[in-house]
Amino acid sequence: MRRPRGGESERPPPGRVEIHEGDNLPLLAALPDASFDLIYVDPPFNTGRDQERRRLRTERGDDGDRVGFQGRRYRTTVLGSARYADHFDDYLEFLVPRLREAHRLLAPTGSFFLHLDYREVHYVKVALDGIFGRDAFINEIIWAYDYGARSRRRWSAKHDNILWYARDPRRYHFDHDAIDRIPYMAPGLVGPVKAARGKTPTDTWWHTIVSPTGKEKTGYPTQKPLGILERIVRVHSRPGARLLDFFAGSGSFGEAAAALGRDVVLIDANPEAIAVMERRLARFAPQVLRPAPIVEPTAAPVEEPAGGAHEAVSILPPSPTGLGPSPLHTPGNRAKDA
Ligand SMILES: C[S@@+](CC[C@H](N)C(=O)[O-])C[C@H]1O[C@@H](n2cnc3c(N)ncnc32)[C@H](O)[C@@H]1O
Repeated sequence: MRRPRGGESERPPPGRVEIHEGDNLPLLAALPDASFDLIYVDPPFNTGRDQERRRLRTERGDDGDRVGFQGRRYRTTVLGSARYADHFDDYLEFLVPRLREAHRLLAPTGSFFLHLDYREVHYVKVALDGIFGRDAFINEIIWAYDYGARSRRRWSAKHDNILWYARDPRRYHFDHDAIDRIPYMAPGLVGPVKAARGKTPTDTWWHTIVSPTGKEKTGYPTQKPLGILERIVRVHSRPGARLLDFFAGSGSFGEAAAALGRDVVLIDANPEAIAVMERRLARFAPQVLRPAPIVEPTAAPVEEPAGGAHEAVSILPPSPTGLGPSPLHTPGNRAKDA
């Protein structure tokens, strides 16, 4: 990707990051209306299995379990793994209440991006048309990649679908000058000046997946590439805007947002995701809010000290998320939320 022509010539100061551990539905319900300029989510795709990424160490060894280049044998040791469940009896019943919250939380010129794949995208598109209105659907972006095994029985599925809805289709933020440029397929047909400048992408975005051996990799399953998310952040929001990802995983959207000077709230129910985000986003000094530990009742009630875990306050004023000291984080309410 080439840098955009206009828009942001210099990187703005980094944005603030707030990370919340917990089921997103009750956390979203506690947020004020119209409090975010851009919401991106990449929910579980309902693949019907657990998503797992194992971290392996590979060493040469004659007794190795894998055979590599020139027949050399390698021993693999599993160092650890990260996983989350991705099977739902009724996917729409799970997702739709969260999509309604996304709609409520969007500012009047805000945009919503939903990242899915071929399995559920058609059903969810119909649901979103009902929530946002059909005229609020602006684009279906196809992220095309080319990696991994190929099927011998059908065309191999090598793309994801990203649906873009505007809160108001008559006025939404879209900064054309902030779009990066890509090379022409046939530069000889357009002349040297145009060829050097490149062209803007269409609704089909070619981009590699996160390299399994590259610097960007966190080890969290289904991590999305920064290049895709930076494009969304740059074009669909301004520096200083308030962004939200409530299926945050390893925090890819959070990293794109904060690095480009946007404040961002990230939510995930999986403690492993929270740990990965805490490490990955450490340079932005994130505020991390976890549910209060469940304390067994004792015979004599213990008085809670002032300023304890329940007193943590959201870091994103002036329109605060209000999530910090939420009673939703207390053990009593967790049972109700489940
Ligand atoms: C596809 S992954 C997100 C990956 C992320 N975009 C990245 O680049 O790393 C989906 C995430 O949704 C989280 N999740 C699933 N159900 C959730 C819920 N009810 N509340 C909050 N997070 C949830 C999972 O723990 C998982 O981390």
